[in-house]
Amino acid sequence: MQSPYKSRKGVRSSAVAYASKRDLTPEGIFDFFLPCPRGLEVALAEEVTALAAHSSTLRAGTPTPGGLPVQGTLTDAMRLNLHCRLPSRVLLLGGSCRYADAEDIYHLARDLGWEQWFDVTQALRVDVTAERSPLESIKFAALRVKDGICDRFRALTGERPDVDTAHPDVRIHLHLREVDALLYLDTSGEPLFKRGWRSEHGAAPLKEHLAAGLLKLSGWTPRDVLFDPLCGSGTLVIEAAQIAANRAPGLNRSFGFEVLRGFDPSAWAALREAARQAVRPVAPGQFFAADIDPANVRMTLDNARRAGVGGAIAAQQGDVIDAVPPVDAAALPAGQSAWLISNPPYDARIAPEGQAADDFAPQLARVLKQRFAGWHVGLLAADLHWDRALRLKPRRRIVLFNGPIECRLMLFEMLAGSARGQV
Ligand SMILES: C[S@@+](CC[C@H](N)C(=O)[O-])C[C@H]1O[C@@H](n2cnc3c(N)ncnc32)[C@H](O)[C@@H]1O
Repeated sequence: MQSPYKSRKGVRSSAVAYASKRDLTPEGIFDFFLPCPRGLEVALAEEVTALAAHSSTLRAGTPTPGGLPVQGTLTDAMRLNLHCRLPSRVLLLGGSCRYADAEDIYHLARDLGWEQWFDVTQALRVDVTAERSPLESIKFAALRVKDGICDRFRALTGERPDVDTAHPDVRIHLHLREVDALLYLDTSGEPLFKRGWRSEHGAAPLKEHLAAGLLKLSGWTPRDVLFDPLCGSGTLVIEAAQIAANRAPGLNRSFGFEVLRGFDPSAWAALREAARQAVRPVAPGQFFAADIDPANVRMTLDNARRAGVGGAIAAQQGDVIDAVPPVDAAALPAGQSAWLISNPPYDARIAPEGQAADDFAPQLARVLKQRFAGWHVGLLAADLHWDRALRLKPRRRIVLFNGPIECRLMLFEMLAGSARGQV
């Protein structure tokens, strides 16, 4: 991949074009970065490592705060997009350079061989993230990336690609570290937590990758029963039922890589078909949801149907304060446990219906202690000391970020044969 430009002293010498060093063949190995909610990095490494059992070329790197570096082929990128529940994107590293100002970043963008991946008729969007960047305006740096790409295409073809922030064909990500700028080509398109089944939103839906993370970090397994008595749009039970059904999260949606050059449509069709064949039926009686708002119950059932797990989920209207266990935990066969996992309305976004926020935690704790003996409980709270309001001692408190909001996943064991819910 050749630059149509002369080198610029100082910058070109430090620019590294990773993607351009490799042939665009199915065997070529690329560097990827998979961003994920902070707190899920190690779980993501385990997810990618499990997927790597099906590919001799896919390798998880060492988790870093906010994501995971991965190496693999373009077919592995399709695999990651189709099967991974925890990342928000699969970003292909195009190149990087040391930078002092936005002009260095302009030259990096201008020197990478974007024409190998897309053409001038495809509309662009450039996003930027930064950690400790000394630049005054990271938005201006993103603008210079766009200029660099457009100038490159103009030099090659006489035309510039359009920018379309709402419906781009191609997304580019600029990540600014303190001294390094990294440019990525997004292979996902819409973020991966958009699984393609959500048509309506509850007041504060959990993002699907965070829901999958709660399930993974709590210790829930695909054999176990799950009850979310504050289900909202049903994200947790839908995610869990899809996992139990071995239903790939990306089966219902399209991806950015489908419009990029270098991706192999027949390999993609084969991966999708194999994923479809791997889906197994889930019998009713394992996944239960409830919400005080009947509209949310309807939304959960509609979402579940669109997610391909409609038959697996029972949902009903009800106040959590009146909730009773949908199964007897003591009567479950060996190897199957009962889990109540939820994100209660702990913060200012939603007040629990019909009660003062201060009353809600102790009432919920009483319900758990008195009626859910033998259950494992996982509650996500943005109030870092919500366990104090509950007056329950968690077995574990796991640090997680819901976007920028620091949260705790609090895990409790409700002891069988006791009114006390702590270990
Ligand atoms: C933070 S939202 C849960 C979001 C859900 N995890 C999702 O992904 O859409 C909390 C939910 O609790 C419900 N809720 C509030 N008070 C309730 C109560 N007393 N009993 C049952 N549900 C309640 C609200 O209607 C809301 O849907």
